[in-house]
Amino acid sequence: MSPDVAGLPSSARVLVMANQKGGVGKTTTAINLGTALAAIGERVLIIDIDPQGNASTGLGIERKDRTFSTYDVLMGQRPLLDAIAPTAVPRLYISPSTLDLLGVELEIAGDKDRAFKLRNAIAAMAQDPAAADREPFTYVLVDCPPSFNLLTVNALAAGHSVVVPLQCEFFALEGLSQLLRTVEEVRRTLNPALTIHGVVLTMFDPRNNLAGQVVADVRAFMGDTVYETVIPRNVRVSEAPSHGKPVLLYDLKSSGSQAYLRLASEIIQRERRLRAA
Ligand SMILES: Nc1ncnc2c1ncn2[C@@H]1O[C@H](COP(=O)(O)OP(=O)(O)O)[C@@H](O)[C@H]1O
Ligand SMILES: [Mg+2]
Repeated sequence: MSPDVAGLPSSARVLVMANQKGGVGKTTTAINLGTALAAIGERVLIIDIDPQGNASTGLGIERKDRTFSTYDVLMGQRPLLDAIAPTAVPRLYISPSTLDLLGVELEIAGDKDRAFKLRNAIAAMAQDPAAADREPFTYVLVDCPPSFNLLTVNALAAGHSVVVPLQCEFFALEGLSQLLRTVEEVRRTLNPALTIHGVVLTMFDPRNNLAGQVVADVRAFMGDTVYETVIPRNVRVSEAPSHGKPVLLYDLKSSGSQAYLRLASEIIQRERRLRAA
């Protein structure tokens, strides 16, 4: 653990990367949005709550080095600060995932606070004496599994706001309606303050005629909720994880890196507007 691992003040924003579909860009967005936010000066914690652990691997955290993980945190066996590891990116940290997370649902099913394990852990970090003399995180990004299980529910119950990665493909809107219903349900039952931060269109391929239509349809349906920035399909983005690097470290000039930098500044601007309102 790095000596300057931070605590979480109430001012840290918890953004949840959620979409029940797999392969839409949740993990890619967590890694690269996190990197881009850190690059422009934010202090960022990624919480990997997906048993697949792709965010942890993509940030170069080897399995043998995952001494404590999000599993231990959800089980109440370790404080969040103990699980947090530094990454190669300054100001970017991660609470890694292990396959143990597959068992969490069964292990906590009988607990009254089963939906609030993550929220409690994040709140406890702010009170952790070990965090007192450290600079606080300004953003916490939670990378969800591709399903609506108890892990995703924990993430949604812990979040201020949801970032929805949506792949530019034919069935995009169908999945989106289902996600919006789930967020509404969580808002009604567990987390009244939860909002949709924005929808980020991913893997846009201008050579695909349908992709432009999908972008137009999603914008017509969701209006300003859709970020202006569209993430292009870019082979450098998909190569980077196999090198254990965010694309911004792997190839800063690539169209993918540049798009994630634009997305980060758009998100910060949206945050400023929210705070001013
Ligand atoms: N902008 C992009 N350009 C090219 N490949 C991408 C892009 N975004 C994601 N991918 C690739 O698509 C696959 C699914 O992305 P991922 O972020 O893992 O989705 P999820 O976490 O929603 O399952 C991964 O192999 C990833 O490298
Ligand atoms: Mg993923």
